[in-house]
Amino acid sequence: MTRDAAGAGGEDAYDASPWVPAGADLDALRTAAAGCHGCPLHRDASRTVFGAGDTSARLLLVGEQPGDQEDRKGHPFVGPAGGVLDRALAEAGIDPGETYVTNAVKHFKFEPAARGKRRIHKAPTLREISACSPWLAEELRLVAPEVVVALGATAGKSLLGSGFRVTRDRGVPLPLPPPAGGDGEGVLVATIHPSAVLRADDAGRAELYGGLVADLRVAGRLLG
Ligand code: URA
Ligand code: SF4
Repeated sequence: MTRDAAGAGGEDAYDASPWVPAGADLDALRTAAAGCHGCPLHRDASRTVFGAGDTSARLLLVGEQPGDQEDRKGHPFVGPAGGVLDRALAEAGIDPGETYVTNAVKHFKFEPAARGKRRIHKAPTLREISACSPWLAEELRLVAPEVVVALGATAGKSLLGSGFRVTRDRGVPLPLPPPAGGDGEGVLVATIHPSAVLRADDAGRAELYGGLVADLRVAGRLLG
């Protein structure tokens, strides 16, 4: 792995690329990702949480990073946010079983709660998002979905760059550059992260959830 010891702060370069095998299929990628040390997040998390679902799905959903439950179980969106997502997908007329789900960042980033054993989610930095993006690029290339849904700011930044803003860019089809080696421009629809619905107070929850469903309907309509 390359080092940028002479760079600002003298820190290691963050980059998953040295762990990504060339020409691998999804199973081989998943196995390789289990050993990724492309950024420091692997140190405190339990395991890599790779994407899962229908590997020939027409719709691929990208979240932020695994949460506490996902870190324990090794599968994306199996905790409370996954419950909201599955409900919203069904309400938008999309069968969750016909999607592929993954995350922009594949290790759980957290800090211990001040008291007790809870692990509090921490948002990944742009450096960590960028380090992990080679895994996502390979998933996009191999699943080759017709439509990609970015769930929240981290997924949007990973796929469209740091200028992405969820409030401005959500709910409309946006061009997605083809993955390396791919042909034809893809299409992306961004929306809020389902955990925003969980964090909302009682007064705001229904509106946030309704917006999530509406944005997923836009993605569903693109599939025809
Ligand atoms: N939140 C995410 O972004 N991804 C998961 O897999 C779970 C919660
Ligand atoms: Fe590798 Fe991504 Fe985990 Fe960092 S978060 S160690 S880049 S898999």
